[in-house]
Amino acid sequence: MNRIEIIEKIEKNRIASSEELAYLLETITDEELEFLRKKAQKTALAHFSNKIFIRGLIEFSSFCKNDCFYCGLRRSNKNAVRYRLSKEQILSCCKSGYGLGFRTFVLQSGEDMYFTDEALCDIVEKIKSLYPDCAVTLSVGERSKESYKRLFDAGADRYLLRHETADDEHYSTLHPSEMSLKNRKECLYNLKEIGFQTGAGFMVGSPHQTYENLAQDLLFLHELQPQMCGIGPFIPHKDTPFAKEKSGSVRLTLALLSLVRLMLPNVLLPATTALGTADGKGREKGILHGANVVMPNLSPTEHRTDYSLYDNKICTGDEAAECIKCLSGRMQSIGYKIVTDRGDYTEK
Ligand code: 5AD
Ligand code: FES
Repeated sequence: MNRIEIIEKIEKNRIASSEELAYLLETITDEELEFLRKKAQKTALAHFSNKIFIRGLIEFSSFCKNDCFYCGLRRSNKNAVRYRLSKEQILSCCKSGYGLGFRTFVLQSGEDMYFTDEALCDIVEKIKSLYPDCAVTLSVGERSKESYKRLFDAGADRYLLRHETADDEHYSTLHPSEMSLKNRKECLYNLKEIGFQTGAGFMVGSPHQTYENLAQDLLFLHELQPQMCGIGPFIPHKDTPFAKEKSGSVRLTLALLSLVRLMLPNVLLPATTALGTADGKGREKGILHGANVVMPNLSPTEHRTDYSLYDNKICTGDEAAECIKCLSGRMQSIGYKIVTDRGDYTEK
């Protein structure tokens, strides 16, 4: 089968074999990528028209008990500046976000055990009582099924937990031995079973990644059927073991966004901050390749630079209001518009 036929097969069947996916990713030409992009854009337009959902990201703690080799928040990074927002500070981010039109708040942190189930449930309940028309998304890492259930019962609607890579061996080159892909996957299945709109995802171009690994990522997404999917290029952070590694390719990231759009036509797919960091027009390109979500930062500006997953992260100096204005302009420039719906996943 040639590459155009593989793309057509994915559009029709929403799946191809691991060999076909790896071959396509490795050898796709610019013309074929444009063919793929058009199909992905058409699919996104059919499901969401030219609407782009926004999510207000609140990075509420930079403490992390994990030691992932790629991440600037890893516990071994002694140069990392650690902070925690208080409940009041988090609520104040929500308040200003609500005023700006946000109807989804994404609470993200390192794996910080200071935030017990009780503490997180209390924050979620408060946000849901103050803003009953808003969705709360949590992105706080691996926890027990009981913990996830308590957070769901407290009112959390969605949960983001990237699987990072769907290959066991590759997983173990990115993480210390106490972490496992098995546990990661179990968390994702638990989240789905509990009823969260669940987001998986991975980095493109992380050290040691092969095209076969990326094919496995796509097959895993096909199996999991997540409601959301976060994909961005790997970008080195200077205070990690991967400081000297190369960044992931923007072009390959765009190809993967398009493939995910064809495989999961109604998935909520962000044009990520990492993509916008790797390329000045990365988020616009992401949208044109099938993405339909952007996630501006609502965190207090004084802590922005301290939530440093990778180097040179964009928007660390801007107020949320400026980011919205900037993003609205960027989306408009490519024929899209930001909408303030909650933007839930729908089956159709
Ligand atoms: N480059 C790009 N993305 C990164 N993440 C963490 N570190 C990096 C990095 N160096 C991503 C991971 C994580 C998400 C919150 O950020 O995929 O799940
Ligand atoms: Fe933050 Fe453009 S999105 S400044």
